Amino acid sequence: MKFVILTDTHFVAAGHRLYGLDPAERLSAALQVIGLDHPDAAFIVITGDLAHWGQPEAYANLAHVLTRAPAPVRLLLGNHDLRRPFRAVFSAADDDGNGFVQSFAVFERFSMLSLDTLDEDGPTHAGLLCRARLGFLEDALRRAPTDRPLLMFQHHPPFDTGLPHMDRIRLRNGEEELALLSRVRKPDYLFMGHIHRPIAGVWHGIPFHIQRALAHQVDFDLVTADRVPGTHEAPDYALVDVADGRIIVHQRSFLYEGPRFWLDDPEAQRAARLPVSSA
Ligand SMILES: [Fe+2]
Repeated sequence: MKFVILTDTHFVAAGHRLYGLDPAERLSAALQVIGLDHPDAAFIVITGDLAHWGQPEAYANLAHVLTRAPAPVRLLLGNHDLRRPFRAVFSAADDDGNGFVQSFAVFERFSMLSLDTLDEDGPTHAGLLCRARLGFLEDALRRAPTDRPLLMFQHHPPFDTGLPHMDRIRLRNGEEELALLSRVRKPDYLFMGHIHRPIAGVWHGIPFHIQRALAHQVDFDLVTADRVPGTHEAPDYALVDVADGRIIVHQRSFLYEGPRFWLDDPEAQRAARLPVSSA
């Protein structure tokens, strides 16, 4: 069973750009490639920061682009989102009964648990899992069948990644989340966004993947703490394949337009320069 992860779309109103980029153009390109190359994807999940300023017109723009999605789309919220304008457009989005955009679903090959770490009332862009949300998490962890992997999704990493400017806005109560997971059940994989950089590793025995943003990226800067450095590094999406005791995470740079060649082609091996793809 396969699915696709996108994150940090940072939509703005139609026809507008953010940091010189058009998020709608990028998402359209991603959806086109996903539709062509992964018709077997069960769904596409977008792990938060759907809109940059939480504007109603940005969510409307996102909804319009998503009408071309080749598979069902599951949406999470991030620190740049606002619940009310989001719900005004995406009225059928996940609701845990307390108004949070959280869900738990059991599929044939795995279970999926998505959390809402947006802290709308907080003083910074840091995330939070309040009592109600931790309660939802605990309930879902207890309900998750033990005969298949449990995949968990949330916007904010609950731990430091070594990028000081992002660590100061991570999930504020990551230790509390870890205590709950350790007590009830640790997921088999944790997928996140927020950092706008590709990062993978293991957090207290939990393998994790942080997906690169669809919109602007964050520079690889392990020093600066007071400002967030941005770049136009190429975006990608992740294709996750869950089957027979393995979880494979591919990352695809879908805007790549450089050369494509066979490695065993002697002409390509000797070429001073290869032509770029015409696709
Ligand atoms: Fe973001």
